[in-house]
Amino acid sequence: NNILLINGPNLNLLGTRQPEIYGKYTLIDLIKILKKQAKKNDINLLDFQSNSEHLLIEKIHTAKEKLIRYIIFNPAAFTHSSIALRDALLAIDIPFIEVHISNIYARDNFRSHSWFSDISQGVISGFGIDGYLWALKTIINRITNNKK
Ligand code: DQA
Repeated sequence: NNILLINGPNLNLLGTRQPEIYGKYTLIDLIKILKKQAKKNDINLLDFQSNSEHLLIEKIHTAKEKLIRYIIFNPAAFTHSSIALRDALLAIDIPFIEVHISNIYARDNFRSHSWFSDISQGVISGFGIDGYLWALKTIINRITNNKK
């Protein structure tokens, strides 16, 4: 039961990057919390962060051969710009949940459009890093009930 957490550009700076918006937890804290929760439920959580669109696309391409059942994806700024990442996800046909730490609908207008929402299983936005935990919970439920 492998699932993949993917974080896009600038999320390596979590904890110090605009903490009033993105909170005080670092990416390492977040990964630790998620891995622990996944392990308790017999799920192996792999994680990847990159600032490069190219590397994110390649990681998505390899998800199938790594037998990834589900993806938790925060595309960060690529949410609003990357048709290439959207196409990569369409190409692999692995369900994913879109997560945003901040409420993208309560910020700059250009953040209100996502190239991912309509092809995702669902979107969680505005609940801080808890959003990743809710996504994980849904995935655990679905895998446990053997649903897609
Ligand atoms: C983000 C929201 C995006 O608009 C922004 O570019 C990010 C992070 C979030 O998690 O709230 O880098 O995806």
